[in-house]
Amino acid sequence: MAASQLDIGYVRSLFPAFHHPDWAEWIHLENAGGSYVPRHVIDLLTQFYTATKVQPYGRGGPSEAAGDAMDRAISLLPATLNAQAGEVHIGPSTSQNTYVLANALRAGMIEGDEVIVTNQDHEANIGSWRRLAETGLTVKEWSVDPETGLLDVDDLETLLNARTRLVCVTHASNLAGTINPVRQIADLVHTAGGLLVVDGVSWAPHAAVDVVDLDCDIYLYSTYKTYGPHLGLCYTRPEVLDQLAHQGHYFNATKPTTRLTPAGPDHAAIAAAAGIVDYYEDLADHHRIDDPDVDLVGRIAKVFDLVADHEERLMRELLGFLATKPIRLIGVPDADRSLRAPTIAFTSERATPAEVATTLADVGIGIGHGDFYARRLVDAMGIENEVIRISAVHYNTVDEIDRTIEVLDKTL
Ligand SMILES: Cc1ncc(COP(=O)(O)O)c(C=O)c1O
Repeated sequence: MAASQLDIGYVRSLFPAFHHPDWAEWIHLENAGGSYVPRHVIDLLTQFYTATKVQPYGRGGPSEAAGDAMDRAISLLPATLNAQAGEVHIGPSTSQNTYVLANALRAGMIEGDEVIVTNQDHEANIGSWRRLAETGLTVKEWSVDPETGLLDVDDLETLLNARTRLVCVTHASNLAGTINPVRQIADLVHTAGGLLVVDGVSWAPHAAVDVVDLDCDIYLYSTYKTYGPHLGLCYTRPEVLDQLAHQGHYFNATKPTTRLTPAGPDHAAIAAAAGIVDYYEDLADHHRIDDPDVDLVGRIAKVFDLVADHEERLMRELLGFLATKPIRLIGVPDADRSLRAPTIAFTSERATPAEVATTLADVGIGIGHGDFYARRLVDAMGIENEVIRISAVHYNTVDEIDRTIEVLDKTL
């Protein structure tokens, strides 16, 4: 029978950072900025650089092996989105992917067409789209509630109309942590005749993403936040890909995987990204998720069920503590996995974000302070420049959260 709880000891045994002589004691709680990587990824990267760091896809030898290693990743990664082969494009980052997408989508639009962006998103899913205003498109803003930092779907409805071509929204903001109802949004956008672009960068480390269930047209996430190398994945619904103007070299126009990747991708990073799926598979095996009727997508989903249970426990500790303090939390206060991720941002009446981060760093706890490129959200909420951000993932322990709370108790 499958295990009912995540085996944290086992999880941590797979991450060399937790055993590194310099940093084994360091508590990493800035995961929304970038996660540690398991040995599966490191081994593949080392293997690529050691043995096959040549131009891939040649005949025989290291060149063919390099291409095979990349192809393995290209064939495995779509399972992390419940997507199919050819539907996922691998670019250098999500910011670069939205930049390319904006060019690709613009070609199919005409002056006066409308694009809706939020002021809750990371700038990666706002700026590229806002720039389209310079080319004759109308850009509208779906604005957050300035008190909570949350979006209301009713407000989106008032912005949608027959000219709406595109709506761009985050699955869970990197500050509010709160899940936006993507499926409901997709239904509304599609009824209006538009396409939906979802930034899943802050959500993908915490859940098995299912683009079919979400019914979104484009979904993006960055693998350096999901235990992998620095890359950006971009899912496009097949019918949407057909509408996108080709952005690569002209002679690559018919290849689905080069259409949206004008920059030559990092070959070694692509090969190593297969290690993300190997890691999820390792967790599935260890937790006896081995029903022969369940495919890779299903196994990843079951691994993330265990992950979400554990993360909910971490959230409960931290949010319960913060509720006793004079702080201003961004997003919903509930420690409920169906409502939010353990990405918890707030301001304090008693200490500046830099002071809080410094106090914690002095005792070996790494958290974040800043606007995390969600500058528009910080501004909309009337916050002066910075917030404190504590972002956990599944490899963090209750003990780490308790030690953080102990220090925060004196500071906040
Ligand atoms: C929610 C969110 N979206 C987009 C990005 C940008 O991703 P990338 O660094 O891959 O461009 C980030 C990066 O922190 C993010 O947190």
